[in-house]
Amino acid sequence: MHIKTPNKPVSRRVLLFTLGGAELVALVSQFSNALFGYFKPRIQPGSFGGKVVAGKPLEFKKGTVSHVQEGHFYVSRLADGGYLALWQRCTHLGCTVPWRKDLNQFVCPCHSSIFNPQGEVVGGPAPRAMDMFPIELTAGQLVVDTGNPIARERFDPAQVFHT
Ligand code: FES
Repeated sequence: MHIKTPNKPVSRRVLLFTLGGAELVALVSQFSNALFGYFKPRIQPGSFGGKVVAGKPLEFKKGTVSHVQEGHFYVSRLADGGYLALWQRCTHLGCTVPWRKDLNQFVCPCHSSIFNPQGEVVGGPAPRAMDMFPIELTAGQLVVDTGNPIARERFDPAQVFHT
């Protein structure tokens, strides 16, 4: 059977083959879009895994530790005025380590590792200092790159960021 067109006849086989090919192209396109979406990083700007604005430098008083929840880190402003961005994750088994202002220390609730404001281990089973993140000053704000944690054995003054 042939379907008549004004110019030339198209056989049913050719028509079905053409329609089937178009459907196949659409299906492959949908599949590749879904696959790309699945593997695409889901890091939102300003959230953990990306660059997070911590605040203006003078918002952090000397000798204080401030939690930046969306970035999963603490800004520890040391007595000399320098800054450290410390990942809140315990280096023992990964529990979240709260800051204890009353003790001037981080105390892990899981197995009682203790870290000082520089993130150094001062007690418990943690094998090394808290990991830190790079800090930069952008448009007058401290910006912390939470996509690049830095593992360290201990505190070193060269790790401190100064504006
Ligand atoms: S996970 Fe923090 S001390 Fe074990």
